Amino acid sequence: MIDYKLLVKEAYEAQKQSYCPYSHWAVGAALLTESGKIYRGCNIENNTFTPTICAERTAIFKAVSEGERRFVAIAIVGNDVNAEIGTADVCPPCGVCRQVMAEFCPMDFEIVLGRSYDDWEVYTLGELLPKVSFPLK
Ligand code: THU
Repeated sequence: MIDYKLLVKEAYEAQKQSYCPYSHWAVGAALLTESGKIYRGCNIENNTFTPTICAERTAIFKAVSEGERRFVAIAIVGNDVNAEIGTADVCPPCGVCRQVMAEFCPMDFEIVLGRSYDDWEVYTLGELLPKVSFPLK
């Protein structure tokens, strides 16, 4: 049983580290592994834009680089840095992050989109990335 509330809280903790001086859009992610560990990630922007990395990929790459490859869920929160938590809509993952998820995660991998500490929506990777080429699982 996934503790969605805890995962969303972890995503908000991750969001505090967001480096987003260009977009002012702060994103946090918390990735749950099969072994029960949680890896946090935030978006990290760059003056030349292209090297910018999303919160989701930061979390996934952190985990993979630590030897983890089996994931069950990720919580994602995102809002303008000046917005109060709970006043923005959910922040679904971009296409690149969905593709990276498809590399490591099963189609029933759960994507938890947080709107506030107590409000979230849950989707599967298969719902957000249907008809993917060469799904691994
Ligand atoms: N971003 C993420 O980190 N994750 C998402 O799901 C959407 C977009 C980041 C990238 C960029 O730093 C900022 O949000 C605006 O697009």
